[in-house]
Amino acid sequence: MARILLGVSGGISAYKAVELIRLATRAGHAVRVIQTETSLEFVGRATFAGVTGAPVLVGEFEADPARGAFPGDPAPDHDPISHLELVRRCDAYAIAPASANTIAKLAGGLADNLLTSAALASTAPLVVAPAMNDRMYEHPATRANLATLAERGTRIVPPGTGALASKGEWGVGRLAEPSQVLGAVEDALSTAVDYAPRSLDGMRVLVTAGGTREPIDSVRYVGNRSSGRMGLALADEAARRGADVTVLAANVSLPRAEAIRYVEVETAAELAAATRAEFRAADVLLMAAAVADFRPVAPEAAKIPKTDRDGLTVELERTSDVLAELAAERSPGQTLIGFAAEHGEGAVPRAREKLQRKRLDAIVVNDISRPDIGFDAADNEVAIVGRDGVQHVPRGAKAEVAATIIDAVEALRAPVAHAKLEGA
Ligand code: CTP
Repeated sequence: MARILLGVSGGISAYKAVELIRLATRAGHAVRVIQTETSLEFVGRATFAGVTGAPVLVGEFEADPARGAFPGDPAPDHDPISHLELVRRCDAYAIAPASANTIAKLAGGLADNLLTSAALASTAPLVVAPAMNDRMYEHPATRANLATLAERGTRIVPPGTGALASKGEWGVGRLAEPSQVLGAVEDALSTAVDYAPRSLDGMRVLVTAGGTREPIDSVRYVGNRSSGRMGLALADEAARRGADVTVLAANVSLPRAEAIRYVEVETAAELAAATRAEFRAADVLLMAAAVADFRPVAPEAAKIPKTDRDGLTVELERTSDVLAELAAERSPGQTLIGFAAEHGEGAVPRAREKLQRKRLDAIVVNDISRPDIGFDAADNEVAIVGRDGVQHVPRGAKAEVAATIIDAVEALRAPVAHAKLEGA
């Protein structure tokens, strides 16, 4: 899913932009529309607002009720400059139909309306679908302008040949079919070097990763085999999609990413305190850490000597269940995902029981009876157990599995994001 900014300029074929939006949204993309004044003569804002589910902008000084957010995004807290925010967030900018006048402005770098200012401010791939009368299209000025745009890397979707808008006219200049325009946009997205869906922009994601260590004495501890790989992969993916990510890392010795904030913790109690402190500000909690369920009741301050001992009995006590406690006091709009390590058969029903008991939105289960996946392995294979069903995620690199889990989180949050956008 990508965020497509669609610029609609004046022309009879502006109505085809409606069909383009329908195709794009059906393919899972989020679309925002900027119209030129002239295009309003052909199709009104209400039509585009209706099909995109988001406000349409025309003027440069017009406030954007959605504050630059695309459908499915949470709106930012501040009031950004509308066209700058839209181009910052979009993954591609398509101008369809692009009139001869708009093409001339784009080629010349003019910025005298919102559509062209946005184009000048955008670093996203630009796709231009010309539509005009055949003589205007064939005019050397238009040809030269299109050649200039193509040289700069703009994708031009060539117009078709057929009946033109004016009665009885036939020739080249018809807007390409909406499916062709969408194809060009998707092509541009797939080849854009730095393309990453900014679908979590403005979202605060809290991830716990690694495994806690509970001291027995000053050197020994009760620990577990969690490496933190899955948690860090989730954090990386959320950050790649634009989220503001904090990781509570319990004994993780893996490389860190610059864009992510890490808080180091060691014991279950430290993890619990840090998670409680950070949770209030989080929209999503991904509780991937393996938290000790038991800890030594009375850890020794010094090292326990082995002299004069035949054995050692360490009494353990229960730790608190951080996830269940936080789920019980969550605010509306917060999403909580648990992670369960289960052995073999019956993993999914057991996870479903945990989901209900801990009141989670979903629980990601991995089968720790398999040596090729899970603890400290590069790969994983999980099942995402939600309230409405189970999604099996086939074996893949932890980064791929993380992307599928984040997709599932986005799907779970779609109604929340829409509610925020409507209330913006
Ligand atoms: N969890 C937690 N606090 C604990 C133990 C677990 O927040 N004291 C969280 C984990 O981070 C994980 C989920 O709860 O997201 C796993 O739940 P659960 O399966 O109950 O923990 P396990 O110890 O793995 O399972 P079991 O009870 O079956 O031993």
